[in-house]
Amino acid sequence: MKLSVAAKDILFGANLNSKLQNLDSIEFDFHEGNSLPENPGRESEISFSNNQIKFPKKKSLKVESNRGLALHFFANHELLAIEMMAAALYCYPSRTEEDIKFKKGIVSALRDEQKHFTMYCERMNELGVKFGDFPLNDFFWRQMIHLKTPQEFFALMSLTFEMANLDFCIHYKEIFKEVEDEKTFNILSTVLEDEITHVSIGRYWLEHWKPTGSLWDYYKNLLPEKITPSRAKGMIYSREVRARAGLESDFIKNLETYKDEFKITTRKEW
Ligand SMILES: [Fe+2]
Ligand SMILES: [Fe+2]
Repeated sequence: MKLSVAAKDILFGANLNSKLQNLDSIEFDFHEGNSLPENPGRESEISFSNNQIKFPKKKSLKVESNRGLALHFFANHELLAIEMMAAALYCYPSRTEEDIKFKKGIVSALRDEQKHFTMYCERMNELGVKFGDFPLNDFFWRQMIHLKTPQEFFALMSLTFEMANLDFCIHYKEIFKEVEDEKTFNILSTVLEDEITHVSIGRYWLEHWKPTGSLWDYYKNLLPEKITPSRAKGMIYSREVRARAGLESDFIKNLETYKDEFKITTRKEW
């Protein structure tokens, strides 16, 4: 199948079969840009909700159903990443060999996100929770409208959301270890390793595209107006994992010391 067709189906398809479709034998076709839909396709069981629910408190994660709820949050992030990556593949044009090349990077990440989503869902089912049992937020998706170019996409997706995810994975790995949930611990370990490569893909392309000057300045200028680099950090800050994703020490230091007025900066939960 042509990539533009598969990406459109992942984006507009309403059920999980579309979102999780197999991308093994994809043909990377040339095509023009397409407009971004207001929302991805979502059948009623998995549609976005305005009802906010809270991430379960650390202490409550001894209880299976609360761990299921935590996994429900993680899985939602994976599904949003799948849809945003599909939107990037479908909406940004493929006119040159280089366009095809960066899209190959996005497809490899998207396939990992499908795997992550499936692993989280299977585990939450074991814990008695089904995907869609709780309200699903659309925060990540709402940023998509601001990402007019692949440069802006990689700055927000890879170097911000996925980068923060590295810290979250490390943090929650420890917590799930403490409550002796080895299965979830192992899933988070796999996700962490994959996410390091996703951050690295974005880092590679932004370094490739950046004009003279630092990656840090280029990155900051690419972020949407209301998103600051604080969003690229979790409740812990791992220099080591960022170095593994190929970030240079200046970038890692600038991000670590970056401070703003943003409320979520000192967040206590995902
Ligand atoms: Fe993921
Ligand atoms: Fe990812």
